[in-house]
Amino acid sequence: MESLVVYESLYGNTKSVAEAIADGLRNWGSSRAVIVGAIERSDLEHVDLLVVGAPTHAWGLPRERTWTQAKPKPSSPTAGIRLRAWPDQLPSGVGRPAASFDTRMNRPRFVTGSAARGIARRLHHHGWARATAPASFLVTGTTGPLIAGELDRARAWGDALGRVAAPTRMSERTAERAI
Ligand SMILES: Cc1cc2nc3c(=O)[nH]c(=O)nc-3n(C[C@H](O)[C@H](O)[C@H](O)COP(=O)(O)O)c2cc1C
Repeated sequence: MESLVVYESLYGNTKSVAEAIADGLRNWGSSRAVIVGAIERSDLEHVDLLVVGAPTHAWGLPRERTWTQAKPKPSSPTAGIRLRAWPDQLPSGVGRPAASFDTRMNRPRFVTGSAARGIARRLHHHGWARATAPASFLVTGTTGPLIAGELDRARAWGDALGRVAAPTRMSERTAERAI
């Protein structure tokens, strides 16, 4: 199974989570984590599973305004495109599985909000099927670090996601080849 993990990240925590998820997914085939600005439309053509993640800013997906407020350092792992608008540029998922995640502060979700839910809505709107519930990985402060054990949890989440998506996707591929 070919998986792609697409992320946006200001301070690097979401990037680390994306890489750990891609690592867990590698138990089920090829997988890579790529920053949103480096994705070409053609990268999506053969993907069996799409995973998308962002930091939570102002209770949801980052906006230009929240990036400006945060004043990212020149070394921030970012690129010009924001995930908020990116799904509009996606080819339809035509029912392929997708999942979303975010990073957010270590407080109850009703206080922090969550970017992952907005991502899930956008993916669904563009024809991607929900493979699992949106997930959050927690940081101790605005710039991080992640709380202890979150990268292991991200790796395990990627593995569990692969376990759910791989058998379904492989049988769909076999059916597609038979037509
Ligand atoms: C402008 C701004 C707004 C933020 N708003 C929220 C928020 O509403 N809820 C929350 O849990 N965390 C919030 N945070 C903390 C981010 O979620 C945290 O910086 C992020 O998870 C780190 O991910 P990154 O290292 O990939 O950028 C905010 C951070 C910034 C810079």
